[in-house]
Amino acid sequence: MVDSAAGPVDLVILGGGSGGYATALRAAELGLTVSLIEKDKLGGTCLHRGCIPTKALLHAAEVADNIHESGSFGILSTFEGIDIAKVNSYKDSVVSKLYRGLTGLVNTRGIEFVEGYGRLVSPTSVAVGDRVVTGRHVVLATGSQSKSLPGLEVDHHQVITSDDALRLDRVPASAVVLGAGAIGCEFASVWRSFGAEVTIVEALPHLVPLEEESSSKLLERAFRRRGIKQHLGARFAGVKTTDEGVTVALEDGTTIEAELLLVAVGRGPVSEGLGYEEVGIATDRGYVLVDHQLRTNVPTVSAIGDLRPGLQLAHVGFAEGIFLAESLAGLDPAPVDYDNIPRVTYSHPEVASVGLTSAAAEQRYGDIVTQTYDLAGNGKAQILQTAGAVTLVAVPDGPVVGVHIVGDRAGELIAEAQLITSWEALPAEVAQLIHPHPTLSESIGEAHLALAGKPLHSHN
Ligand code: NAI
Repeated sequence: MVDSAAGPVDLVILGGGSGGYATALRAAELGLTVSLIEKDKLGGTCLHRGCIPTKALLHAAEVADNIHESGSFGILSTFEGIDIAKVNSYKDSVVSKLYRGLTGLVNTRGIEFVEGYGRLVSPTSVAVGDRVVTGRHVVLATGSQSKSLPGLEVDHHQVITSDDALRLDRVPASAVVLGAGAIGCEFASVWRSFGAEVTIVEALPHLVPLEEESSSKLLERAFRRRGIKQHLGARFAGVKTTDEGVTVALEDGTTIEAELLLVAVGRGPVSEGLGYEEVGIATDRGYVLVDHQLRTNVPTVSAIGDLRPGLQLAHVGFAEGIFLAESLAGLDPAPVDYDNIPRVTYSHPEVASVGLTSAAAEQRYGDIVTQTYDLAGNGKAQILQTAGAVTLVAVPDGPVVGVHIVGDRAGELIAEAQLITSWEALPAEVAQLIHPHPTLSESIGEAHLALAGKPLHSHN
């Protein structure tokens, strides 16, 4: 093996996904020399197998829904079917365009892109094939991969992960979705819009169980109306595959037949066989442990993104990458504010939230107040024919600490809510802000007007 010809760089980054490339871009902007190592394509899970392609599918699903529902707006149309090859080429073209843009960004900022399988071989170096890339500091950003359950074998054909689901060359006639987190609910939503019979199985009592309970219930109602079957609080017992499809058994004796089973029970860290343990990096069930500065127990090594315990979201990876690059460049950035990370499930309808649920706020503050504004009172929601609500969680006579939204386009509304919770705004302060009429964003203003004791278009 030979050492990096040009001598050590400032930063060696292992993994070119959201966390890794954000670190690289910001570090290069700050004048650091960077080598970015990636075995696959720059962009990682988010760009190639996650956020972007799934949201393209969800948009295609929305177009299908619009055609089905167009009659109710007085627009006559005929739904002729789904050309899945065309849907996939639209999805792939979105990914390709963003991929080209990202590759250009990395090149123009002078980042060395090292293509190949990297392995940590010392606290300051990563081996890639015959080469050893050495730096003052190493950033581990190897991300996550789909998990399964003990005894549940994924065959990538009838029992599939989200990676396989994105590559499907057909719309399944029927599907069982195991797990009702973001991945499960998003695929259930897409497949239903494309005409599949969909059944969700979730061990906890609700869909999107980490969300405010009232948001989960609204999604459950909306999915029921869309004909998505739900087994909640149901334990998976096993699956049998046959030539025709799968038979999924639940612990209560129920069996469900379908063309395929999507396993969406979470994602685990990619850290095995990468030399982390040999170099003495502390891990817990494969997750690399870090402090609030994102440093591991080895002083020259940091870890970011899905690889460390915590929320596995692309935008958290971006924020951590920027923070880490700035702190390694000697700046004094504010640490990532994990309490105020927006979360969105892009199903139809969407579920979005930021800050604390009422249960978490009660634990932290004791007494709390909540306020729900039903989208039935919002003009734009009626125009769009979307149902849902905005629920606020606040400290009595204090700031708003949680905002929970259900409804189409909720994901676009949560950015304002993030300002509210991050700046610890009082309900009366937000009530002062004038929201444009008629927009969905007014529902945020209306919820705060109600919480400030001066409801306008509210019945409760
Ligand atoms: P998740 O952890 O969010 O949800 C998995 C669900 O499976 C849980 O509700 C869990 O109770 C359930 N489950 C586990 N074992 C089960 C069993 N034996 N029987 C029935 N249900 C069982 O994981 P998910 O949805 O796979 O997503 C993985 C990660 O990717 C998450 O961190 C998620 O936030 C992230 N992601 C985010 C997206 C977004 O922000 N829109 C989209 C897709 C993924």
